[in-house]
Amino acid sequence: MLIDKINELKAEIEQLKADNAEQIEAMRIKYLSKKGQINDLMAEFRTVAADQKRELGQAINALKQAATDKINTLRECVASEDHVEADIDLTRTAYPAEVGTRHPLSIVKQEIINIFTKLGFSVAEGPEVEDDWHVFSALNFADDHPARDMQDTFFIQRNPDVLLRTHTSSVQVRVMTTQKPPIRVICPGRVYRNEAISARAHCFFHQVEGLYVDKNVSFADLKQVLQAFASEMFGSDTQIRLRPSYFPFTEPSAEMDVSCTLCHGKGCAMCKGSGWLEILGCGMVDPAVLESCGIDSKEYTGYAFGMGVERIANLKYRVNDLRLFSENDQRFLDEFEAAHN
Ligand code: DAH
Repeated sequence: MLIDKINELKAEIEQLKADNAEQIEAMRIKYLSKKGQINDLMAEFRTVAADQKRELGQAINALKQAATDKINTLRECVASEDHVEADIDLTRTAYPAEVGTRHPLSIVKQEIINIFTKLGFSVAEGPEVEDDWHVFSALNFADDHPARDMQDTFFIQRNPDVLLRTHTSSVQVRVMTTQKPPIRVICPGRVYRNEAISARAHCFFHQVEGLYVDKNVSFADLKQVLQAFASEMFGSDTQIRLRPSYFPFTEPSAEMDVSCTLCHGKGCAMCKGSGWLEILGCGMVDPAVLESCGIDSKEYTGYAFGMGVERIANLKYRVNDLRLFSENDQRFLDEFEAAHN
Protein backbone atom coordinates (compact mmCIF):
# COMPACT_ATOMS: atom_id res chain seq x y z
CA MET A 1 0.00 0.00 0.00
CA LEU A 2 1.22 3.47 -0.92
CA ILE A 3 0.39 4.93 2.52
CA ASP A 4 2.65 2.35 4.21
CA LYS A 5 5.53 3.19 1.87
CA ILE A 6 5.05 6.90 2.64
CA ASN A 7 5.10 6.27 6.41
CA GLU A 8 8.16 3.99 6.18
CA LEU A 9 10.07 6.56 4.18
CA LYS A 10 9.04 9.29 6.62
CA ALA A 11 10.33 7.26 9.59
CA GLU A 12 13.57 6.52 7.70
CA ILE A 13 14.15 10.18 6.87
CA GLU A 14 13.50 11.26 10.48
CA GLN A 15 16.34 8.98 11.64
CA LEU A 16 18.90 10.40 9.21
CA LYS A 17 22.26 11.55 10.55
CA ALA A 18 25.15 13.13 8.67
CA ASP A 19 28.76 14.08 9.43
CA ASN A 20 29.49 16.18 6.40
CA ALA A 21 28.08 17.99 3.40
CA GLU A 22 28.77 15.13 0.96
CA GLN A 23 26.60 12.74 2.95
CA ILE A 24 23.78 15.27 2.99
CA GLU A 25 24.00 15.80 -0.76
CA ALA A 26 23.79 12.03 -1.26
CA MET A 27 20.63 12.00 0.87
CA ARG A 28 19.12 14.84 -1.09
CA ILE A 29 19.70 12.93 -4.33
CA LYS A 30 18.35 9.72 -2.82
CA TYR A 31 15.09 11.24 -1.56
CA LEU A 32 14.41 14.56 -3.25
CA SER A 33 15.93 14.55 -6.74
CA LYS A 34 14.01 13.84 -9.90
CA LYS A 35 15.00 10.19 -9.74
CA GLY A 36 14.66 10.12 -5.96
CA GLN A 37 12.38 7.93 -3.91
CA ILE A 38 9.75 10.59 -3.27
CA ASN A 39 9.34 11.19 -6.99
CA ASP A 40 8.92 7.43 -7.44
CA LEU A 41 6.05 7.59 -4.96
CA MET A 42 4.54 10.43 -7.04
CA ALA A 43 4.50 8.14 -10.06
CA GLU A 44 2.69 5.53 -8.03
CA PHE A 45 0.33 8.18 -6.66
CA ARG A 46 -0.93 8.95 -10.17
CA THR A 47 -2.34 5.42 -10.39
CA VAL A 48 -4.37 5.44 -7.15
CA ALA A 49 -8.12 5.65 -7.04
CA ALA A 50 -9.64 9.11 -7.14
CA ASP A 51 -11.20 8.87 -3.66
CA GLN A 52 -7.75 8.26 -2.11
CA LYS A 53 -5.96 11.07 -3.98
CA ARG A 54 -6.69 13.80 -1.48
CA GLU A 55 -5.39 11.90 1.58
CA LEU A 56 -2.35 10.40 -0.16
CA GLY A 57 -1.50 13.66 -1.93
CA GLN A 58 -1.37 15.46 1.43
CA ALA A 59 0.74 12.63 2.91
CA ILE A 60 3.27 12.80 0.03
CA ASN A 61 3.48 16.61 0.29
CA ALA A 62 4.06 16.33 4.04
CA LEU A 63 6.77 13.74 3.38
CA LYS A 64 8.46 15.99 0.86
CA GLN A 65 8.37 18.91 3.29
CA ALA A 66 9.73 16.77 6.11
CA ALA A 67 12.59 15.55 3.88
CA THR A 68 13.43 19.11 2.79
CA ASP A 69 13.37 20.35 6.41
CA LYS A 70 15.53 17.46 7.54
CA ILE A 71 18.14 18.09 4.85
CA ASN A 72 18.24 21.81 5.76
CA THR A 73 18.58 21.04 9.45
CA LEU A 74 21.45 18.62 8.78
CA ARG A 75 23.17 21.23 6.61
CA GLU A 76 22.97 23.83 9.38
CA CYS A 77 24.31 21.40 11.96
CA VAL A 78 27.29 20.41 9.85
CA ALA A 79 28.05 24.03 8.94
CA SER A 80 28.03 25.20 12.56
CA GLU A 81 30.20 22.26 13.64
CA ASP A 82 32.76 23.22 10.99
CA HIS A 83 32.68 26.74 12.32
CA VAL A 84 33.27 25.67 15.91
CA GLU A 85 36.15 23.42 14.90
CA ALA A 86 37.83 26.24 13.00
CA ASP A 87 37.61 28.64 15.94
CA ILE A 88 38.58 26.49 18.88
CA ASP A 89 42.12 25.24 19.12
CA LEU A 90 41.99 22.67 21.89
CA THR A 91 45.78 22.43 21.99
CA ARG A 92 46.12 26.03 23.09
CA THR A 93 47.08 26.74 26.71
CA ALA A 94 44.15 27.54 28.96
CA TYR A 95 45.60 30.87 30.03
CA PRO A 96 47.32 32.65 27.16
CA ALA A 97 47.77 35.57 29.55
CA GLU A 98 50.25 38.13 28.27
CA VAL A 99 52.77 38.62 31.05
CA GLY A 100 54.01 42.15 31.46
CA THR A 101 57.68 42.99 31.72
CA ARG A 102 59.47 44.46 34.68
CA HIS A 103 60.38 48.10 34.31
CA PRO A 104 64.17 48.56 34.09
CA LEU A 105 64.11 50.89 37.11
CA SER A 106 62.28 48.22 39.13
CA ILE A 107 64.85 45.66 38.06
CA VAL A 108 67.75 47.86 39.15
CA LYS A 109 66.04 48.97 42.35
CA GLN A 110 65.38 45.34 43.27
CA GLU A 111 68.98 44.43 42.51
CA ILE A 112 70.20 47.19 44.84
CA ILE A 113 67.79 46.05 47.56
CA ASN A 114 68.93 42.42 47.18
CA ILE A 115 72.59 43.36 47.53
CA PHE A 116 72.06 45.44 50.66
CA THR A 117 69.66 43.04 52.35
CA LYS A 118 72.39 40.40 52.03
CA LEU A 119 74.67 42.83 53.86
CA GLY A 120 72.18 43.14 56.72
CA PHE A 121 70.24 46.27 55.70
CA SER A 122 66.47 46.45 55.91
CA VAL A 123 64.22 48.56 53.70
CA ALA A 124 62.55 51.75 54.97
CA GLU A 125 60.20 54.04 53.11
CA GLY A 126 58.92 57.52 53.71
CA PRO A 127 56.43 59.98 52.20
CA GLU A 128 57.03 61.77 48.91
CA VAL A 129 55.13 64.82 50.16
CA GLU A 130 57.28 66.09 52.97
CA ASP A 131 57.93 69.11 55.13
CA ASP A 132 60.94 71.41 55.16
CA TRP A 133 62.30 69.97 58.41
CA HIS A 134 62.65 66.36 57.18
CA VAL A 135 64.05 67.33 53.78
CA PHE A 136 66.32 70.22 54.76
CA SER A 137 66.49 71.56 58.33
CA ALA A 138 67.13 68.28 60.14
CA LEU A 139 69.75 67.47 57.51
CA ASN A 140 71.75 70.55 58.41
CA PHE A 141 70.84 72.68 55.39
CA ALA A 142 71.30 76.33 56.32
CA ASP A 143 68.21 78.51 56.01
CA ASP A 144 69.62 80.21 52.94
CA HIS A 145 70.92 77.02 51.28
CA PRO A 146 70.28 77.19 47.53
CA ALA A 147 68.70 73.69 47.48
CA ARG A 148 65.63 75.15 49.19
CA ASP A 149 65.24 77.55 46.29
CA MET A 150 61.98 77.55 44.34
CA GLN A 151 63.94 76.62 41.22
CA ASP A 152 64.81 73.28 42.70
CA THR A 153 62.02 72.30 45.02
CA PHE A 154 58.36 71.78 44.18
CA PHE A 155 56.28 73.39 46.88
CA ILE A 156 52.70 72.29 47.39
CA GLN A 157 50.35 75.24 46.95
CA ARG A 158 51.58 78.37 48.72
CA ASN A 159 52.69 76.70 51.88
CA PRO A 160 56.52 76.64 51.86
CA ASP A 161 56.46 73.97 54.53
CA VAL A 162 54.76 71.36 52.32
CA LEU A 163 56.94 70.16 49.48
CA LEU A 164 57.90 67.20 47.32
CA ARG A 165 61.08 65.64 48.68
CA THR A 166 64.12 66.44 46.57
CA HIS A 167 66.08 63.46 47.92
CA THR A 168 65.49 60.28 49.90
CA SER A 169 67.79 61.57 52.66
CA SER A 170 64.53 62.69 54.29
CA VAL A 171 63.83 59.03 55.06
CA GLN A 172 67.08 58.93 57.11
CA VAL A 173 65.50 61.55 59.33
CA ARG A 174 62.21 59.64 59.54
CA VAL A 175 64.05 56.49 60.58
CA MET A 176 66.41 58.16 63.07
CA THR A 177 63.56 59.97 64.80
CA THR A 178 61.51 56.79 65.22
CA GLN A 179 64.11 54.04 65.77
CA LYS A 180 66.97 53.58 68.17
CA PRO A 181 70.46 52.54 67.00
CA PRO A 182 71.71 50.20 65.76
CA ILE A 183 70.03 51.36 62.55
CA ARG A 184 70.92 49.80 59.23
CA VAL A 185 68.48 50.72 56.44
CA ILE A 186 68.24 51.47 52.76
CA CYS A 187 65.49 53.78 51.58
CA PRO A 188 64.44 53.47 47.94
CA GLY A 189 62.03 56.03 46.55
CA ARG A 190 61.00 58.67 44.07
CA VAL A 191 62.23 62.24 44.36
CA TYR A 192 61.24 65.45 42.61
CA ARG A 193 63.12 68.48 41.37
CA ASN A 194 61.93 71.40 39.34
CA GLU A 195 64.07 70.78 36.27
CA ALA A 196 63.29 71.21 32.59
CA ILE A 197 62.82 67.73 31.12
CA SER A 198 65.57 66.65 28.75
CA ALA A 199 67.62 63.56 27.93
CA ARG A 200 69.83 64.25 30.96
CA ALA A 201 67.40 65.71 33.51
CA HIS A 202 63.87 65.00 34.65
CA CYS A 203 61.48 66.50 37.16
CA PHE A 204 61.27 63.18 38.99
CA PHE A 205 63.71 60.34 39.41
CA HIS A 206 64.61 57.64 41.89
CA GLN A 207 67.18 57.26 44.62
CA VAL A 208 68.30 54.71 47.13
CA GLU A 209 69.57 56.11 50.40
CA GLY A 210 71.65 54.07 52.83
CA LEU A 211 72.17 54.67 56.55
CA TYR A 212 74.07 52.86 59.26
CA VAL A 213 74.16 54.25 62.80
CA ASP A 214 75.75 52.39 65.69
CA LYS A 215 78.59 52.64 68.16
CA ASN A 216 82.01 52.90 66.50
CA VAL A 217 80.84 53.09 62.89
CA SER A 218 83.83 54.29 60.84
CA PHE A 219 84.64 55.56 57.39
CA ALA A 220 86.41 52.24 56.77
CA ASP A 221 83.07 50.46 57.32
CA LEU A 222 81.52 52.75 54.73
CA LYS A 223 84.25 52.09 52.22
CA GLN A 224 84.02 48.36 52.71
CA VAL A 225 80.25 48.21 52.24
CA LEU A 226 80.47 50.37 49.12
CA GLN A 227 83.17 48.16 47.62
CA ALA A 228 80.99 45.11 48.29
CA PHE A 229 78.07 46.84 46.58
CA ALA A 230 80.13 47.88 43.53
CA SER A 231 81.54 44.37 43.07
CA GLU A 232 78.07 42.80 43.28
CA MET A 233 76.44 45.37 41.02
CA PHE A 234 79.07 45.84 38.33
CA GLY A 235 81.26 42.73 38.58
CA SER A 236 83.90 41.41 40.93
CA ASP A 237 86.77 43.19 39.16
CA THR A 238 85.17 46.61 39.76
CA GLN A 239 87.34 49.13 41.56
CA ILE A 240 86.08 52.10 43.56
CA ARG A 241 87.61 55.44 44.42
CA LEU A 242 86.40 58.05 46.89
CA ARG A 243 86.85 61.73 46.15
CA PRO A 244 86.40 64.41 48.83
CA SER A 245 83.13 66.29 48.41
CA TYR A 246 80.60 68.31 50.37
CA PHE A 247 77.07 67.59 51.57
CA PRO A 248 75.46 69.48 54.47
CA PHE A 249 74.44 66.26 56.23
CA THR A 250 77.75 64.38 56.14
CA GLU A 251 81.21 65.23 57.47
CA PRO A 252 83.53 64.21 55.95
CA SER A 253 81.74 63.76 52.62
CA ALA A 254 82.82 61.92 49.50
CA GLU A 255 81.73 60.98 46.05
CA MET A 256 82.32 57.46 44.85
CA ASP A 257 83.41 56.49 41.35
CA VAL A 258 83.59 52.96 39.96
CA SER A 259 86.04 51.84 37.30
CA CYS A 260 84.36 52.20 33.92
CA THR A 261 82.10 49.22 33.23
CA LEU A 262 82.74 49.51 29.50
CA CYS A 263 86.52 50.01 29.17
CA HIS A 264 87.53 48.78 32.67
CA GLY A 265 89.53 51.90 33.34
CA LYS A 266 91.35 52.38 30.05
CA GLY A 267 89.31 55.39 29.03
CA CYS A 268 86.42 55.51 26.55
CA ALA A 269 83.50 57.69 25.44
CA MET A 270 81.24 56.52 28.29
CA CYS A 271 83.72 57.57 31.02
CA LYS A 272 84.87 60.55 28.95
CA GLY A 273 88.39 59.15 28.83
CA SER A 274 88.84 59.15 32.61
CA GLY A 275 88.32 55.45 33.25
CA TRP A 276 85.94 56.28 36.13
CA LEU A 277 82.16 56.70 36.47
CA GLU A 278 80.54 58.70 39.25
CA ILE A 279 77.99 56.62 41.12
CA LEU A 280 76.99 58.07 44.48
CA GLY A 281 77.49 60.53 47.30
CA CYS A 282 78.37 59.41 50.82
CA GLY A 283 79.99 60.34 54.10
CA MET A 284 79.87 60.11 57.87
CA VAL A 285 76.55 61.39 59.23
CA ASP A 286 77.18 64.91 60.55
CA PRO A 287 76.88 64.92 64.37
CA ALA A 288 74.46 67.84 64.03
CA VAL A 289 72.10 65.58 62.05
CA LEU A 290 72.26 62.85 64.69
CA GLU A 291 71.47 65.42 67.38
CA SER A 292 68.55 66.89 65.36
CA CYS A 293 67.07 63.42 65.27
CA GLY A 294 67.56 62.79 68.99
CA ILE A 295 70.57 60.49 68.73
CA ASP A 296 73.51 61.13 71.06
CA SER A 297 76.42 61.95 68.78
CA LYS A 298 78.94 61.25 71.56
CA GLU A 299 77.76 57.68 71.79
CA TYR A 300 76.94 56.97 68.18
CA THR A 301 78.41 57.57 64.76
CA GLY A 302 77.04 56.66 61.36
CA TYR A 303 77.59 56.65 57.67
CA ALA A 304 75.18 57.46 54.86
CA PHE A 305 75.15 57.22 51.11
CA GLY A 306 72.75 58.07 48.30
CA MET A 307 72.61 56.94 44.71
CA GLY A 308 70.42 57.53 41.65
CA VAL A 309 68.62 54.48 40.30
CA GLU A 310 68.42 55.95 36.79
CA ARG A 311 72.18 56.55 36.82
CA ILE A 312 72.87 52.89 37.56
CA ALA A 313 70.27 51.72 35.04
CA ASN A 314 71.96 53.94 32.43
CA LEU A 315 75.31 52.30 33.12
CA LYS A 316 73.96 48.76 33.18
CA TYR A 317 71.68 49.03 30.15
CA ARG A 318 73.21 51.97 28.25
CA VAL A 319 69.95 53.91 28.29
CA ASN A 320 71.11 57.37 27.37
CA ASP A 321 67.85 59.27 27.45
CA LEU A 322 66.19 59.64 30.85
CA ARG A 323 62.83 60.29 29.26
CA LEU A 324 62.60 56.69 28.08
CA PHE A 325 62.08 55.58 31.67
CA SER A 326 58.75 57.37 31.98
CA GLU A 327 57.36 57.31 28.47
CA ASN A 328 56.11 53.72 28.75
CA ASP A 329 56.95 52.94 25.14
CA GLN A 330 56.29 49.23 24.94
CA ARG A 331 59.12 48.68 22.45
CA PHE A 332 61.54 49.99 25.06
CA LEU A 333 59.97 48.08 27.96
CA ASP A 334 59.87 44.80 26.01
CA GLU A 335 63.64 44.89 25.70
CA PHE A 336 63.89 44.01 29.39
CA GLU A 337 61.63 40.98 29.08
CA ALA A 338 64.00 38.22 28.08
CA ALA A 339 66.57 38.62 30.81
CA HIS A 340 64.37 39.33 33.77
CA ASN A 341 61.07 37.50 33.67
N1 DAH B 1 70.93 63.39 49.07
C1 DAH B 1 71.95 63.53 48.09
C2 DAH B 1 71.35 63.98 46.76
O1 DAH B 1 70.20 64.03 46.64
C3 DAH B 1 72.65 62.22 47.86
C4 DAH B 1 73.45 61.83 49.03
C5 DAH B 1 74.77 62.25 49.17
C6 DAH B 1 72.88 61.07 50.06
C7 DAH B 1 75.52 61.90 50.24
C8 DAH B 1 73.66 60.72 51.17
C9 DAH B 1 74.99 61.17 51.25
O2 DAH B 1 73.18 60.01 52.17
O3 DAH B 1 75.72 60.78 52.33
O4 DAH B 1 72.07 64.29 45.87
